[in-house]
Amino acid sequence: MIDIPTVRKAFPIFQNQPELVYLDSAATSLKPQCVIDAVSGFYTDHTSNVHRGDYAIAAENDALYDGTRKVVASFIHCDPREVIFTHNATASLNQAAYGLRKFLKPGDVVLTTKAEHASNLLPWFAMQKECGIKVEYAPLDSQGRLTEEAFLSAMHDKVRIVALAQVTNVTGAEQPIKAIAKAAHAYGAYVVCDGAQSVPHMPVDVRDLDVDFLAFSAHKMCGPGGTGVLYGKKELLTQMDPLLYGGDMNARFSSDGTVILKEAPVRFEAGTPAIEGVIGMRAAIEFLQKIGMDNIHAYEKELRAYFLQRMQELNNIEIYNPDNAYGPVAFNAKGVFSQDAAGYLASRNIAVRSGNHCAKILHEVIGTDSTIRASLYFYNTKEEIDRCVAACSDISLENAIGIFF
Ligand SMILES: Cc1ncc(COP(=O)(O)O)c(C=O)c1O
Repeated sequence: MIDIPTVRKAFPIFQNQPELVYLDSAATSLKPQCVIDAVSGFYTDHTSNVHRGDYAIAAENDALYDGTRKVVASFIHCDPREVIFTHNATASLNQAAYGLRKFLKPGDVVLTTKAEHASNLLPWFAMQKECGIKVEYAPLDSQGRLTEEAFLSAMHDKVRIVALAQVTNVTGAEQPIKAIAKAAHAYGAYVVCDGAQSVPHMPVDVRDLDVDFLAFSAHKMCGPGGTGVLYGKKELLTQMDPLLYGGDMNARFSSDGTVILKEAPVRFEAGTPAIEGVIGMRAAIEFLQKIGMDNIHAYEKELRAYFLQRMQELNNIEIYNPDNAYGPVAFNAKGVFSQDAAGYLASRNIAVRSGNHCAKILHEVIGTDSTIRASLYFYNTKEEIDRCVAACSDISLENAIGIFF
């Protein structure tokens, strides 16, 4: 059980923006005071670089920064040496793709879906152009869901990489990653899992899922911007090349161009990292762990079911993912352009996102390239949902356009 009033007290924005109904957590989440304090404490009390200073606060930051690997490892169930700090899920996915290049040859296939976010498609498209591999798509149903059978129908022995979101960012389809990873491994393929929309919302155990890589961003799970994680299996990380070269990640280099790199994970963290971001992410994970990921998952499921049921009562609303148990609700007001409708909701202090949500080929699956996405997190309430539903019931062409005149 989540004590919602106590949880909401932890987020200063609810006091500072009392009228706001924030339903855009899939874009970025709100931040609790403990995360704000962890970040500002770095600036006010212990600013320094990491892995470079020989003084007390530098040692403190080394311990906080490197210690966060253990916190992340306990959160997703891996070895701390398998936790790479990046700048976001996008950087993590690009690093995974770049690092896997050396395992690919022309004609090899990356199997993905049309429901993926740009950051889990464009790196593979780039490789298609540069390395002669091919991107193929496993078939989805009309709500963006991939079944194990559909995955198997698309799988073949040229597939070397399977790149999939555990939960997709528009329709919130939760894909059967564990079964897919098992099947992919039987073909000798690697599995790159985009956890940007799953890790903030549910318990995720990389050992149990047996994925080879998992990418996610701190800012979608109560943490600061500019920080992400790439989990990678140790035996793969030791063979992979970094995407970036520079300070800290090298052990030695000489004038003839010889470079000796450090071991993973530092090998993949060239240059000064977002230290305050990593420290803030630690505070965010500890905050989430205190509430309990099982509790968060259960509460969000219940809240979404309530939201869906209320939205289904409205005649002017078309919903694109009614059968998904989880994630955002993707909808349109009939006959109203999604951005106009989102503008109307904004005029009622309801914050949602409209458009294609960086999933620019999903329209081939769900039949529209522009939706309103209302995305929940554990700090949302039924009262907020009631306010959103009431505002949605009033969306019409006249109302939506009217706000611009
Ligand atoms: C499923 C999914 N993958 C990847 C990303 C990219 O995350 P970021 O912008 O934090 O790099 C997002 C962001 O919305 C997402 O929803």
